[in-house]
Amino acid sequence: MEIRTVGVVGCGLMGSGIAEVCARAGYDTIVREVDQSLLERGLERIGRSLDTAVKRGKLAEAGRGSAWERLQGTTSLDALAPCDVVIEAVIEQLDEKRRVFSALDEVCPPHAILASNTSSIPIIELAGATRRPGQVLGMHFMNPAPVMPLVELVRALPTEETTLDAARAFCDSLGKRVIVAQDRAGFIVNLLLVPYLLDAIRIVESSTASKQDIDLGMTLGCGLPMGPLTLLDFVGLDTVCYIADILYEEYREQRYAPPPLLRRMVAAGYTGRKSGRGFYDYRDGSTDRPPA
Ligand code: CAA
Repeated sequence: MEIRTVGVVGCGLMGSGIAEVCARAGYDTIVREVDQSLLERGLERIGRSLDTAVKRGKLAEAGRGSAWERLQGTTSLDALAPCDVVIEAVIEQLDEKRRVFSALDEVCPPHAILASNTSSIPIIELAGATRRPGQVLGMHFMNPAPVMPLVELVRALPTEETTLDAARAFCDSLGKRVIVAQDRAGFIVNLLLVPYLLDAIRIVESSTASKQDIDLGMTLGCGLPMGPLTLLDFVGLDTVCYIADILYEEYREQRYAPPPLLRRMVAAGYTGRKSGRGFYDYRDGSTDRPPA
């Protein structure tokens, strides 16, 4: 199957990163947001990330220009009609995602693969909203998508082998390494990562160590790029709490249950970098930043 045109639904943090990756890999990329101002914000984010890639020597100036030309923004799902692959990256709400998949099924050509970047919703629920369940799968990029070299492909019960093969070849062409998981909550990465992050919060709750020392323990002690509390702030405490709830719902194991402190911080709006405040304080003038 030849893939020329890729659609991305959602131009938030993940959608914009995925659209950037596709355009940089040479695909005509159509990215859709619900309204013009969100679309403009997303496209600006892509522009800034392309600039960073040029500054860091990861992309030639000419490559920046051609990637940008390959990107087309839209607020209409109908504009995704020419797409061979569509990657959905909208809000993690089942009803909204099902609506998107059902609409894509109407709009996209019969050969198109419909993928979801979901980290928590069962792929079968999305496949079931279409008349092509064999051509639906999970394609889970890591944050930040332009930098992290991994994609998890998630195979639902009806996903066809040819769909998986085509998705694997597509991700290879994006320069990503692929791992494959069955359609169970957490797939591979979050099944391992989330209990680790929750344990770090439990260490804070038990006052065993300071937040800085917990983070330094894992960066300097284990060579990770970010300590767990810094990573929680980076991913978003609300996102981690949401995924933990889904894991707990599926497996009923205590290690997936969100600790009370996590729920309280989310309720307080301390959701991490995006709100300016999480385990650390990112607001102007604050010195309470993650350890260097
Ligand atoms: N395009 C291409 N490359 C870029 C880039 C861009 N827009 N921006 C930065 N880079 C490159 C840099 O050139 C640099 O590459 P080298 O190492 O080859 O020099 C690399 O990315 C790191 O960039 P920076 O030096 O600017 O930043 P950093 O060193 O502070 O790293 C980070 C930032 C990549 C986010 C790093 O801290 C990291 O890897 N953190 C962990 C992130 C992580 O764990 N993500 C997974 C989250 S879990 C998830 O996503 C699943 C889920 O469902 C919740």
